[in-house]
Amino acid sequence: MGRDVIVACDFSDRKTTLDFLSQFKGRKPFVKIGMELFYAEGPDIVKEIKKRDHKIFLDLKLHDIPTTVKKAMAVLSDLGADILNCHAAGTAEMMEAALEGLTRPDGTRPKLIAVTQLTSTDQPALENELMIHFPMNEVVENYALNAKRAGLDGVVCSPLEASLIHEACGRDFLTVTPGVRFAESAASDQKRVMTPEAAKTAGSDYIVVGRPITQAADPVAAYERCCEEFLD
Ligand code: C5P
Repeated sequence: MGRDVIVACDFSDRKTTLDFLSQFKGRKPFVKIGMELFYAEGPDIVKEIKKRDHKIFLDLKLHDIPTTVKKAMAVLSDLGADILNCHAAGTAEMMEAALEGLTRPDGTRPKLIAVTQLTSTDQPALENELMIHFPMNEVVENYALNAKRAGLDGVVCSPLEASLIHEACGRDFLTVTPGVRFAESAASDQKRVMTPEAAKTAGSDYIVVGRPITQAADPVAAYERCCEEFLD
């Protein structure tokens, strides 16, 4: 899998999602299905989008006791997703269990990445609410190293942390980075943001872009602009 732009399809129903994807005509953007769409439509929406030849990042951010995560990952493994994720905060034991659950009887499995810290979390929230009294960069680097030791393929992180993670975990360790905004657009609830071009310079492997594409007057043009800035 190479570098790519992943479109976060944060919609609440099948029809809106499929209508949105139909606009792209011949192009098949890499799609992220998150909690909203998955909880509304269930596993069939993953199979249906896969049947339309999109690659899929199933962003359900599992975080529970290891046995529960392992069993849930076993259920999710065969839906056709190319990348799945869990929270690194669930510990290395939970991440290892997730990996085991995801591995099919023939030894194959989709990629598994871990969320380090959500891109909506900033340093004051880390300290005052989560009671983690370390700089964000150190927390993210440590969570990424735990994920690597547990055998995962990469992490979800801010583009601001991509180079730090590659230095700590190696160039092949995937950095999948939300929190991407065009230079002139609103950050909304995202706190640690970068433009697609800056994310490319920072070494992100995949950028996850939601509202700057889904809420754009011309989503296809916004997607193409992301590809131009990030891939070219
Ligand atoms: O609309 P926006 O571009 O902010 O969407 C970003 C997407 O990436 C959302 O679907 C959000 O759930 C997801 N995400 C994130 N931060 C993470 C992991 C996933 O923003 N750490």
